[in-house]
Amino acid sequence: MQRLRVRQALESEAPKENIVVKGWVRTKRENKGFAFIELNDGTSLSNLQVIIDEGAQGWDELERATTGASVSISGNLIESPGKGQKWEVKASELRVIGEADPESFPLQKKRHSDEFLRSIAHLRPRTNKYGSIFRIRSEAAYAVHKFFHDNGFRYVHSPILTGSDCEGAGEMFRVTTLDPYDGKKATPEDDFFGKNTSLTVSGQLAAEIFATSLGDVYTFGPTFRAENSNTPRHAAEFWMIEPEMAFADLKDDMDLGEKFLKSVVSHLREHCAEDMELFSKWVDKSLTATLDTVVEKEFQRVPYTEAVEILKKNAKTKKGKDRFEYAVEWGIDLQTEHERFLTEDYFKCPVIVYDYPKDIKAFYMRMNEDNKTVAAMDILVPRVGEIIGGSQREERMDVLTRRIQELGLPEEEYWWYMDLRRFGSVPHSGFGMGFERLLMMVTGVANIRDVIPCPRTPKHLEF
Ligand code: 4AD
Ligand code: MG
Repeated sequence: MQRLRVRQALESEAPKENIVVKGWVRTKRENKGFAFIELNDGTSLSNLQVIIDEGAQGWDELERATTGASVSISGNLIESPGKGQKWEVKASELRVIGEADPESFPLQKKRHSDEFLRSIAHLRPRTNKYGSIFRIRSEAAYAVHKFFHDNGFRYVHSPILTGSDCEGAGEMFRVTTLDPYDGKKATPEDDFFGKNTSLTVSGQLAAEIFATSLGDVYTFGPTFRAENSNTPRHAAEFWMIEPEMAFADLKDDMDLGEKFLKSVVSHLREHCAEDMELFSKWVDKSLTATLDTVVEKEFQRVPYTEAVEILKKNAKTKKGKDRFEYAVEWGIDLQTEHERFLTEDYFKCPVIVYDYPKDIKAFYMRMNEDNKTVAAMDILVPRVGEIIGGSQREERMDVLTRRIQELGLPEEEYWWYMDLRRFGSVPHSGFGMGFERLLMMVTGVANIRDVIPCPRTPKHLEF
């Protein structure tokens, strides 16, 4: 007996005898003397149709093979005489492995809301939509690694536990030990590392160490932010991809970001066609057009100052109403509504905004000649807004030292970071892309909680 995954059966080139398929019952249709089971094992969006006749072994188990039950089916893979599928399994034996009580199994044969499915996040990957999301997520991770390896980048594992605040925004989760005897929080003297320890907000600082030794590198790992922003685009735990290149300036950084996004989207369109189609059909009708612009159009590059001018000119709608909730002035951090206006309404394609005011950006970004802006860039895409944030790093020892002092950061903590400038300093650049934001873009899913296996957001921590 050969075990076949549902995908293998559906993609088979020829009929096969004596096979076993295992999976969960999606639906069952009973007729007099025979029944159909739609079987899914998570390997594909499409189900495998099984037909079982009254004479088959285990016919008396059919009653227990309800929606959600796990079953094992032996038989032959035959060309389906019916319409709608090429192959089906003619069962010689049905065995129920685990029942799913129809009274209490929450996934019934109807469309459930995303809110409801979020409340049963442990069962939602068994639905069509979430099965597709998590298969695409897996393939996207592979596409990311493939892109960097094909382009000569080395993969660096940056630490999760850290003593530095990369973004200087103070939005970090503190890590402490528990007193082993009474379970209370330990006092600072008991701190395991003897200093304040946090979960990392970014792998960038470690990436800079390795860029200034191995050349072109990237990190891809979990990052954590204690921003109390209950938005559909922020998670407390998310995955970030951070390339870092030595001997590279801001333009190289923008070029890499654009090439990277185009490559990953093309890869997914080629390798996840069936799953991707579900989203363009059912989730976002404009998805195909949006992804076309990512792949085919040259990204529009605009300096921050010009972007602000555009937004100010368009602050009112044609009917004279305020277009934006947040007024635009030079110096503000762009809000999602502004980013979406630029990409969806104004340029109608991805936009790279660069040269941001220094006061809204992190300490490590390279100061521009004007002393007011830094060599930073954000890539904005339709629907999602900011998907990538990056910069050329300050490689000049004196300028960086001044900046650290100006911002009142603990200079002594950065001694090793300064060493990278002290010894053989080079212009270098990199960016961070939120992996979940990428998935939101390629699926059109509007809430970050729906593209991450176990969402962590304020007041929400299940399993
Ligand atoms: O713009 P950010 O904060 O940049 C950095 O952390 C840099 N150290 C990156 C670098 O240059 N190596 O974050 C980068 C990206 C954002 O553009 C966004 O896509 C994502 O990370 N991101 C989040 N995604 C989900 N939830 C959050 N709370 C996020 N915060 C940032
Ligand atoms: Mg940013």
